Amino acid sequence: MIKPIGSNELKPRFVYDASEREALAKEAESLPSVVISSQAAGNAVMMGAGYFSPLKGFMNVGDAMGCAEKMKMSDGHFFPVPVLCLLEDIDAIKDADRIALRDPNVDGNPVLAVMDVSTIEEVSDEQMAIMTDKVYRTDDPEHPGVAAFTSQGRHAVSGPIKVLNFSYFQADYPDTFRTAVEIRNEIQEHGWSKVVAFQTRNPMHRAHEELCHMAMEAVNADGLVIHMLLGKLKPGDIPAHVRDAAIRKMAEIYFPPNSVMVTGYGFDMLYAGPREAVLHAYFRQNMGASHFIIGRDHAGVGDYYGDFDAQTIFDDEVPEGAMEIEIFRADHAAYSKKLKRVVMMRDAPDHSKEDFVLLSGTKVREMLGQGIAPPPEFSRDEVAKILMDYYQALDD
Ligand code: ADX
Repeated sequence: MIKPIGSNELKPRFVYDASEREALAKEAESLPSVVISSQAAGNAVMMGAGYFSPLKGFMNVGDAMGCAEKMKMSDGHFFPVPVLCLLEDIDAIKDADRIALRDPNVDGNPVLAVMDVSTIEEVSDEQMAIMTDKVYRTDDPEHPGVAAFTSQGRHAVSGPIKVLNFSYFQADYPDTFRTAVEIRNEIQEHGWSKVVAFQTRNPMHRAHEELCHMAMEAVNADGLVIHMLLGKLKPGDIPAHVRDAAIRKMAEIYFPPNSVMVTGYGFDMLYAGPREAVLHAYFRQNMGASHFIIGRDHAGVGDYYGDFDAQTIFDDEVPEGAMEIEIFRADHAAYSKKLKRVVMMRDAPDHSKEDFVLLSGTKVREMLGQGIAPPPEFSRDEVAKILMDYYQALDD
């Protein structure tokens, strides 16, 4: 199986030993503590689950700047985005060398992780601006990722962490939330070697489904891991439990038995387009995928990114040899009226624009919002029904 990034073994920061975990949880109650941002909590969950392996904890400002500017930490380790714990108020932890990080997304703010503090630094406006520009390629406060990043505090607390739980993800999505450790183990149990990973924040429409079929065929894959985002989205995106139901239905009907794992990870959407695509590839290698699908406007929002910027970044910016996972670069998938099926446009050179029905999750969401059932060119009937039921319940 493909190795994790930067080491032979995954290095999850979750404390797997139950008695050690219990002792740490007990100790944490008497430590100085602070409620962290939702983004920082997502980072902690990803480090706990092994997805960000071999990161040990939150970065200091120098490493965060290095990752923003050239995807490298000061020790040379490759990482595509800053992993910061930005706080507004540090009064409670100012002089502490060991602190508890509390979960902003769970009632009562239970302790999510314990940190050995290395540094507490102030991030300057200029440093914030550089990181925002490099990661999001815009400083527009209307960009949902930029808004979330810049609305955090300016004190960066860094240091290794030990993670006590997986926030709300395990309780809310017991059948779907998986750690990278669990996915690696399951891939091993299946005996798969060539494994395609598919990122999604949408219910899977025809284009998504066909991209998976095409990628699997092209690389002669043993299996597919559909890996959906379970964290926070922007208003209007379809909630995770609805997506989960729709995706499970689609996988059950339209893929051969035992060829698909439907799974999810606990992280808020960054909407950082190309940079997020690199991060996505990073943690898919860590969970054991050999191939990763990147299509049109991957992890994009609005018109901030070019349709295929999330593919070209792998040629232009990702350091040579940083990752082993191979990118399946998908062209725009659309329904061909001539062929009566979904194709990648590059595979139908004889078609004119009028021969295609363009498919997009955004368009489907718009239709659903207006109470219009997406047509079969867009969504499988079984998927459309689940989505319509959800939208109708919203109106009641
Ligand atoms: S994302 O934010 O998670 O990337 P989405 O769930 O819509 O959004 O997309 C999942 C993957 O499918 C991405 O790699 C995206 O580029 C790809 N994709 C979605 N729709 C199309 C399409 N019509 N043509 C090509 N690729 C697509």
